[in-house]
Amino acid sequence: MGITPKISSDNKLMEKVTALCKRRGFIFPGSEIYGGLANSWDYGPYGVELKNNIKKAWWESNVYLRNDIYGMDAAIIMHPKTWEASGHIKNFSDPVIKCSACGALIRSDKVWDEIWNSPWFLSLRETLSGEKDSSYLLRWAQHEGKKLSPNLSLVKDPEVTMSWMADLHHTFHGVDLDFKNFAGMIACSSSGVPKTPCPICGNALPDTCTSVNLMLETYLGPVKETAEQVFLRPETAQGMFVNFANILDSRHPKLPFGLAQIGKSFRNEITPGNFTFRTREFEQMEIEYFCRPEDSDKVYEEWVEIRKKWYLDLGIKPENIRFRRHAEDELAHYAKACTDVEYFFPWGWSELEGIANRADFDLKQHAEYSGRDLTYFDAVEKKRFFPHIIEPSGGVDRCLLAFLTDAYHEEQVKEDTRVVLRLNAKLAPVKAAVLPLLKNRDEIVGIAKKLSGELKKKMNAVYDDTANIGKLYRRQDEVGTLFCVTVDMETLADKQVTVRDRDSMQQVRIPLENVEKYISDKL
Ligand code: GAP
Repeated sequence: MGITPKISSDNKLMEKVTALCKRRGFIFPGSEIYGGLANSWDYGPYGVELKNNIKKAWWESNVYLRNDIYGMDAAIIMHPKTWEASGHIKNFSDPVIKCSACGALIRSDKVWDEIWNSPWFLSLRETLSGEKDSSYLLRWAQHEGKKLSPNLSLVKDPEVTMSWMADLHHTFHGVDLDFKNFAGMIACSSSGVPKTPCPICGNALPDTCTSVNLMLETYLGPVKETAEQVFLRPETAQGMFVNFANILDSRHPKLPFGLAQIGKSFRNEITPGNFTFRTREFEQMEIEYFCRPEDSDKVYEEWVEIRKKWYLDLGIKPENIRFRRHAEDELAHYAKACTDVEYFFPWGWSELEGIANRADFDLKQHAEYSGRDLTYFDAVEKKRFFPHIIEPSGGVDRCLLAFLTDAYHEEQVKEDTRVVLRLNAKLAPVKAAVLPLLKNRDEIVGIAKKLSGELKKKMNAVYDDTANIGKLYRRQDEVGTLFCVTVDMETLADKQVTVRDRDSMQQVRIPLENVEKYISDKL
């Protein structure tokens, strides 16, 4: 049958990370007070810091620390012709199947992923696990099935469906076949011919599929009837291609050189989900690196290594990241080669970034559609040509989710479980928290506030006196704060404070005036 169950690392981990995000103010469900807007997320106080730190680390290594990459910030809404030239109007679509019963649109290439994760299928699998007789199945159809998948034929017509399920089970007995997965399929057709069930309602899906374009449309102008129809960009890349001539004219760079941009992109994804992993509004960090055609293979390999180093330097565990080369038939219409940077999320390996060799596709297309000369003039060889483009293109939100998941740790400390985010020092939202041991002693509070004020000038530091010291440590560990500085009664006499390290939990006593230097040195 070619059906393999999904491999999951730790189902509970995602629930824990999601709960921590809400509890501590990293990520909230979007528009929550109105019941939420499906798959939209808002970054809270710690989330925005972490996001900014990721973007800062990316910008620093790709723009500030290099001499050959220029930063950019292009408009989100671009001339509609951009999307004709780029191929998005024609090719940026997904194949979908529409369920005739509930109207759900399902990506035809992801149907089985959806089924394996659907509540009714998980429940049915559970019922079929172990040596149980058919009465369990009947009971499931009459109760859970009725609620979860009312259009599944096992629910609508249990006796008939069960009888041919039994036949099939008998036929395939002893064959290397995961009957529990297979059951999802056969349970949806009473005709004896296995069908693919709708992941939402269980109805048999039609065999035909259509395709839908993924770009979000809007109108430019206050009166819709006369306004121009435009698109919200589905990638930041095109803003860099259309500015290629402007960069040549204003900065006069020599090949190879690149453009870098961080910004929002929008896609009408058919099946968003997995927390912030796939959303309709997201942020990208993209580089378009222009090089001589004959150098493109070498430059492409170099970028794979550069990006690998970036993730590892920022603390991603090597066993949780891999670099997967696309097979020929997997390549996008514009790409000559592509390597996906994948992270082992709790639901399995998934893409964080794509590093593509786009050859001369983009500049040629925009030159043709705009009528402008987008070639590069080589003053030595006295010839014009279209440079080739290597594109490392990552998602900020996915990157953040990977760093969060990777950093999440639980450890046993005496009777307690300590939750700690072991984020890299560059990424940690808060570098130091100053905590007064007693919040009703003005002298202690005064020293702590003064110290946090001094630290704030150098790093992201906070003052917190909203709970007892045990709780405060726990909260700071959960958001990955690198150092907790405690001001206590003894401070009044010896002018020293206790600095506690997040990872080792070791405490050192140091003079007040040395705290900033001590922490800065460690950072
Ligand atoms: N310019 C090339 C490009 O956009 P892509 O593979 O479609 O390539 C690049 O997207 C990255 O953008 C992905 O690796 C992913 O990190 C991020 N991304 C794409 N679609 C996304 C979505 N719906 N939600 C969150 N991130 C997304």
